[in-house]
Amino acid sequence: MTQTCPIGGGKGGSGKSFITSNLGVLLAKQGKRVVLVDLDLGGSNLHTFLSLKNPKLGLHDFLIKDYKTLDEVAIPTSIPNLSLISSTNCSHEIGNLFHSQKLKIIRAINKLSYDYVLLDLGAGTIFNILDFFLISNKGLFIITPEPTSIENTFQFIKAVYLRKIKQVLKQKAFNSFVKKLQAKTKNTLIRSPMELVEIVQKQDPKKGKLLQTELEKLQFRFIMNQFRKETDVTMGNKIEKLCNKHFFAKFQFLGNIRYDERVHDSIYSRNIYMNRYPYSITAVDLQNVAGKITETHEDPALKTVKSS
Ligand SMILES: Nc1ncnc2c1ncn2[C@@H]1O[C@H](COP(=O)(O)OP(=O)(O)OP(=O)(O)O)[C@@H](O)[C@H]1O
Ligand SMILES: [Mg+2]
Repeated sequence: MTQTCPIGGGKGGSGKSFITSNLGVLLAKQGKRVVLVDLDLGGSNLHTFLSLKNPKLGLHDFLIKDYKTLDEVAIPTSIPNLSLISSTNCSHEIGNLFHSQKLKIIRAINKLSYDYVLLDLGAGTIFNILDFFLISNKGLFIITPEPTSIENTFQFIKAVYLRKIKQVLKQKAFNSFVKKLQAKTKNTLIRSPMELVEIVQKQDPKKGKLLQTELEKLQFRFIMNQFRKETDVTMGNKIEKLCNKHFFAKFQFLGNIRYDERVHDSIYSRNIYMNRYPYSITAVDLQNVAGKITETHEDPALKTVKSS
């Protein structure tokens, strides 16, 4: 069965594309069939992490030409089993993608038949990014240890959560519950999506139950990237605990990936990091994370993430 894994996060430059590309390489080297989809429309650079120059075919062709499936615009990489659907040359920015085009992409992604489909998303919380992140219940977000990144991460989780609530309740009911919450808190902003869930549960127990069931299906995973020796080693576990306490969804911390100057060198010298430095500590960290991803995908007993 295909596992689709959107890779996102609130902050730019946290390492989404670096991690998407190198996890893709590792999974492909394990013999899995993997496709990477560059969904950072307007900021596409996943091909560079894979040492590919200006792919001639990609998402743009799928959107404007007569291709029936995304598979037809996937290009091979230098790694056997690893393909890329690039979005260079895409004339659309993520923010100005038409609704119909977004749906076309989402439907086509859902039809891809690989072992792993990894989606590299852009930074931020605009609706199109959130909708791509919610393509699967198993979204993965990348954090870095700086307070600004943690702050953006919580904003991102809240935005994803709110978007999911909206998807489940549908627009009209969602607006009505938001109005009730705003009247109750005398606040025009929704500070916590959980307050909204509480309102729904109180006002309409049937919808409240449905909402809780759908939210409990979410199994977010996250990685702490650019981890440095002075970083608190327990930070990832603390964030996992906090999120599991405050949201109905389940959160799993997959591990730290250490900062390595050579990431920069590998990009400059147009090498794939995992190929150039396969024995570095950062490469071992990436391997551990890849191991956790395959473990939970292939062993059904491990699929339910326990909240600690
Ligand atoms: N573990 C790491 N060690 C050292 N440098 C890293 C690491 N991870 C990422 N980087 C560096 O951080 C920069 C940003 O990484 P990347 O482009 O993957 O981030 P991103 O989250 O995809 O950014 P954007 O939001 O702009 O798409 C890269 O230039 C890369 O060199
Ligand atoms: Mg990126």
